[in-house]
Amino acid sequence: MADTSKNNIILSGMQPTGRLHLGNYEGALKNWVQLQNEFDMYACIVDWHALTSDFDATEQLPERIHQMAIDYIAAGLDPERTAIFVQSDVKEHAELHLLFSMIIPIPWLERVPSYKDKAEELGLDSYGFLGYPLLQAADILVYKAGWVPVGKDQVPHIELTREVARRFNTLYGEVFPEPQPKLTPFAAVPGIDGRKMSKSYENEIPLSLPEDDTRKRLKKMFTDPKKLRKGDPGRPEICPVYALHKIYNPDHETEIAPPCRSGELGCVDCKMKLADYLNDALRPLREHRTELENNPDAVKKALTMGADRARARASDTMKDVRKAMHLG
Ligand code: TRP
Repeated sequence: MADTSKNNIILSGMQPTGRLHLGNYEGALKNWVQLQNEFDMYACIVDWHALTSDFDATEQLPERIHQMAIDYIAAGLDPERTAIFVQSDVKEHAELHLLFSMIIPIPWLERVPSYKDKAEELGLDSYGFLGYPLLQAADILVYKAGWVPVGKDQVPHIELTREVARRFNTLYGEVFPEPQPKLTPFAAVPGIDGRKMSKSYENEIPLSLPEDDTRKRLKKMFTDPKKLRKGDPGRPEICPVYALHKIYNPDHETEIAPPCRSGELGCVDCKMKLADYLNDALRPLREHRTELENNPDAVKKALTMGADRARARASDTMKDVRKAMHLG
């Protein structure tokens, strides 16, 4: 097996859902921004993957991709250091996916845990949907990446990627490393309703939300259901608002928890304190975001530059792949 301990390449990706929210930021993006200091980083916006579910809403894709690129850069991914690019700008992903599709048994894909659940939940039955994790394997292996920063839910996809690499290497000779997941040190971010923050639950706080709207959104946030009014004792440990204080308010243990427990601090006041901390924390990102919104050409340029860099590496890999397979 190729030694990944010296492999300095990271690839990660997100589907272009549009504007990113706090959960995406805390759960992934913030970590990527750190990783770009130590690794050679490829940050992909996986638009082809989005087609596995949203094939009937493609007119929204360009704007979603643009907004996501803005969030990547505003959050601190540096286009000079990190290749920020759109998957469909680098056709090599598709070629490698096609070649993998010839050597991977269908049951390997049917076994991936997310497949059956999602197929039933969303009524998806396309060929491409079954191949979702194989396209993901191609995304990763086309850069010969050693590491993939992901959340726990994605670990089976990385396992499959390793199996794909192994099968290819066994059939045609050593071309691919076996990449490892790099688990995100994850602060679980609850949404407005207390469930995990997710666009599909419509409980998210977008990074781009203006300060006043952030206040309004937080005002609606669920709290300890037993604390009905100021004076009632609260339980910070089960309160989603407190979970956000833990992330954004360095003094949560002294400023929030004791007066919440005693009842002295009401939920509205507590939420407004949180709004101040959160707005302060996001202000630089939001300012950067506004600059980028006013300069769409700079964002396009970053994506072109990122795609050029990604393509250079991906096309080298494809030369090795074609040679190993005796293809032209
Ligand atoms: N499946 C990933 C998700 O839903 C997105 C993704 C596609 C990805 N290709 C990738 C993540 C490659 C990491 C590496 O989050």
